[in-house]
Amino acid sequence: MNAADTPDIPDSGDGFDSVGAERRITVLREEIHQHNHRYYILDDPLISDAEYDILFRELQQLEEEWPDLRAPDSPTMRVGAPPAPEFESHRHEFPMLSLANAFTFEEMQEWQGRVYRQLNLVGESVEENDPSLEDVTYMAEPKFDGAAIELIYENGILTAGVTRGDGETGENVTANVRTIRNVPLRLSTAVPDARAIPDLLDVRGEVIMLRSEFAAMNRRRSEAGEPLFANPRNASAGSLRQLDSRVTATRPLSFFAYGVGRVEGLEGDPFTRQSEVLETLAGWGFQVADRWQLAADLNEVEQFYHGLLGGREDIPYEADGLVVKVESLDLQIELGQVSRSPRWAIAWKFPAQQATTVVKDIEISVGRTGALTPTAVLEPVEVGGVIVSRATLHNREEIQRKDVRIGDTVIIQRAGDVIPAVVKVVTGKRRSGARKFVFPALCPECGSDAVQPEGEVVVRCVNLSCPAQIKERLFHWGSREAMDVDGLGEKLVEQLVDRGIVTDPAGLYELIADDLSPLDRMAEKSANNLVDALAQTKTATLDRFLTALGIRQVGTVVARVLARTFGSLEKIMEADRETLEEIHDIGPEVASQVITFFSMAENRRLIDRLLASGLSPQWPPEGELAGVSTGVDLSGLIFVFTGELVELTRGEAKRLVESLGGRVTSSVSSRTDYVIAGPGAGSKRAKAEELGVEILEETAFLAMIGR
Ligand code: IVH
Repeated sequence: MNAADTPDIPDSGDGFDSVGAERRITVLREEIHQHNHRYYILDDPLISDAEYDILFRELQQLEEEWPDLRAPDSPTMRVGAPPAPEFESHRHEFPMLSLANAFTFEEMQEWQGRVYRQLNLVGESVEENDPSLEDVTYMAEPKFDGAAIELIYENGILTAGVTRGDGETGENVTANVRTIRNVPLRLSTAVPDARAIPDLLDVRGEVIMLRSEFAAMNRRRSEAGEPLFANPRNASAGSLRQLDSRVTATRPLSFFAYGVGRVEGLEGDPFTRQSEVLETLAGWGFQVADRWQLAADLNEVEQFYHGLLGGREDIPYEADGLVVKVESLDLQIELGQVSRSPRWAIAWKFPAQQATTVVKDIEISVGRTGALTPTAVLEPVEVGGVIVSRATLHNREEIQRKDVRIGDTVIIQRAGDVIPAVVKVVTGKRRSGARKFVFPALCPECGSDAVQPEGEVVVRCVNLSCPAQIKERLFHWGSREAMDVDGLGEKLVEQLVDRGIVTDPAGLYELIADDLSPLDRMAEKSANNLVDALAQTKTATLDRFLTALGIRQVGTVVARVLARTFGSLEKIMEADRETLEEIHDIGPEVASQVITFFSMAENRRLIDRLLASGLSPQWPPEGELAGVSTGVDLSGLIFVFTGELVELTRGEAKRLVESLGGRVTSSVSSRTDYVIAGPGAGSKRAKAEELGVEILEETAFLAMIGR
């Protein structure tokens, strides 16, 4: 489909008069707004990225031709504007407050005590009209660890975005805020029962980076030799305060709304409950916390707290605790504030994700692109409930910049990624015996030269046949986000490479069970299973295949964009730089990595061999078709698989759920919608029973998704 074929868009073409241009611009904006909403909020696009780009570029061109027709809510504003000399300051009409903290349940009870006292619910002087204890209920949601912001909407159009600043006065960062993909530039009333939009609305929330996006960004920065961000919070705050909003536009920011400031001219009844505010904001097109909870008392809040804390790793963004708010807005007003914090809300913080420990050694590992990555070996220490004994130091320059020496006392942190990182050295505690680390000039695995290419920070082993690189490439091939091969673990890959059985991914498809059975920990059954699992990947989707190739800078997201845009491996391999760079979401850096990869003879040979052994990457994914044809929609539903599956592998089950819009997590909580339990299911099944989560057999699950 091409833009000109879209039925409700009049034919484009040159030579609009101003009325024609205005009409066309309005139509394009409306169309693009809707596509943005489907893509960024609903995660359910109707058109391909390429088709989107055609619409977007046409709008850009028209706006360039007719600058008077530019508008603040045009989707083209998302790409950023030329740098501002400085930010203007902006006074908040209602101050943006901070939150008091609690660290224990006892401190939460003390807070509740203060709430009760303020509302005259304790002691003798209870008056007729005073609320009763039952009226004090709570709404709890994650505390986003990002940068607070206020967005101002006049008649539904975003007119300003202001940082929190000192709470009274912030900085006007409107141009930057417009680049954040899930910030509505215009409020929507598209969902059924959405409330009419008020004349004036201040929306408050947090600008954050999803952990996966943060990690990917840091990986890209590391590869490109740019300094790394310490954590998603710093990265978000820094990105928001860029004077050049085109830079902000390249950062993977998201906005989560959690409250309102001024609300003027709202038709109908004013808001009365905190959860109603959240639901209304969601109805107007804002992303809000994907998990929040109403609680009749603190015990229920506590359950939610522990549930969230237990599944902390499953939360897609950094949350450093809960924010607990009194649900009734009338009571909130009555409670008021003390100094700079409201009495009606409190942050119940999670245990710290930072800890202090000693660097016992620094080790070098070799990755699949040959990168030599230094890791600090630590005196084991507990961080947020997990014992940490290793932390990444990223690359040679990071060691130098932070001046980390063996024997140093360091602060480490788990943030934005599961791999802990060294934040900084506690120099005051440096002992005289601390040793500087000498970065190796040779690959510790194969002894070849390790060089740092001009303009890069990464030191790489030059030998493409370095066994460490081969192992990493094979391991990556079978990893969850790539081909998802059950059983292709590190230990097995190590043996396959050390014994010279396999030297590249194509070799995996030549394996027969007899090659595998003699290996350690390989029985006949597991050998057969692995061969079967590999055979099943022959029809993996194109995006998985691309991810598995391990092209630098091409992770799951870029791979999906490429697959969606081109639709076949051949077309991607043929694409020239210009075509690639024109794709929304693909920058020159990524384009150049793709071109380089496919221009290398050994990579082309590898692909030929893979195809010859029967791999045929599928596009579009079967599940997507099934989803459309059977009309099954699992969006918003969370599944946990436990026990043995008979019909499906775990990987297939997960892909099926995801392709139909659902999510799969590993632990059961009150947020879980279905537990699919097979034979041998144990504690997860029990937990589901305890929480009253629906439990299905595999066959019932298959029936549910129309299989
Ligand atoms: S409600 C303070 N809800 O925490 C007035 N704040 O430490 C009530 N924050 O600057 C704020 N997640 O930016 C609220 N779910 C959430 C939040 C949240 C993060 C931030 C907020 C504030 C800071 C206070």
